[in-house]
Amino acid sequence: MRNILSAILLSLTAIHAETPKFQPGQPWLDDKGVHINAHGGGILFHEGIYYWCGQFMVEGAAGNAAQVGVSMYSSKDLHHWKNEGIALPVSDDPKSDIVKGCILERPKIIFNRKTGKFVMWFHLELKSQGYGAARSGVAVADKVTGPYQYLGSFRPNAGAWPSNVPDNLKKPLSNEESAAISKIRFNGGLTPDYPKESLFRLHQEGGQMARDMNLFVDDDEKVYHIYSSENNGTLHISQLTDDYLKPSGNYIRIFPGGFNEAPAVFKHQGKYFLITSGCTGWKPNRAHLASADSIFGPWSDLGDPCVGTDEQTKITFGSQSTFVLPVQGKPGAFIFMGDRWKPSNPIDAPHIWLPLQFDKNGKPFLKWLDSWGLDLFDSVIER
Ligand code: GAL
Repeated sequence: MRNILSAILLSLTAIHAETPKFQPGQPWLDDKGVHINAHGGGILFHEGIYYWCGQFMVEGAAGNAAQVGVSMYSSKDLHHWKNEGIALPVSDDPKSDIVKGCILERPKIIFNRKTGKFVMWFHLELKSQGYGAARSGVAVADKVTGPYQYLGSFRPNAGAWPSNVPDNLKKPLSNEESAAISKIRFNGGLTPDYPKESLFRLHQEGGQMARDMNLFVDDDEKVYHIYSSENNGTLHISQLTDDYLKPSGNYIRIFPGGFNEAPAVFKHQGKYFLITSGCTGWKPNRAHLASADSIFGPWSDLGDPCVGTDEQTKITFGSQSTFVLPVQGKPGAFIFMGDRWKPSNPIDAPHIWLPLQFDKNGKPFLKWLDSWGLDLFDSVIER
């Protein structure tokens, strides 16, 4: 009897040990036993495999800038990740936009079925210019793991007007308006007297500022670039050209003066959802949820998606969104991916992965779990 009991106990322990769990905030080791170095990242599911690309950080404060490039990992089960190396290395050429020491953040990859190319977009800040350049960079590869060839960088949508602004605003700023704006000190965060309806006009000719960003691939394979624009005060949602290499010029502004960044879009039962953070640099703050019936809006603010104590929710469980991952083969199962930044030693920054669950009204919410597995989604009933 005792033997049988201990055998049962042993096999239960074995089953438990074999069921992998996500442990948000803990070190997460790759196949080489090293903490996964893919920050501000995103995931592409391609031919049965998940590919996770992100910022490769190094030790010390200098690690916040791009010293190495964009890293890539692959996995079949979302738990065990193989290090696939550097997909887009920074350049040694001082004339290159992506020279070592530039700021290259939040890389995302997508696949273009028509061209057969993998396309990477990222937020780029030119070396030694702080966060002033506010550009989008694009790179392309024949293989998902790279090497990616850098194509160039720009401020998106030069010469195009957002489609959701009234015609009377589709005009350059007057001299008086420009003079008034030049007196405002923008620092990327909440700005008193933020001019809600001016900055897109100021930048219409040369292209719109683009910092924190994401890509969203819709069911019809149209792709949208969502970026914090207008000195982080206003988000833009911009459709890409069919080759996914450029902005199409078709774009909208949302939440002017809302100061949203870290955007992550997902779609559930025909509805579009957007999770963002506020703008407090590397420090976490309260998340925001918005939804829309069409990607081009109108978007409604649904408040904070986090459920928990005020201590937890006001800092999104100590994280900032980077991507929302639809789990393959489990409709309605989405994972919130966030970064718990460590600006003094960015290589150490833990990953915060939490299940997105839906309440009885179909509103997504996030709750802290120390440890959880994909089986959690098996109990999710589509409501
Ligand atoms: C955050 C942003 C990060 C990084 C950081 C720099 O607000 O989400 O991607 O740019 O600021 O301070």
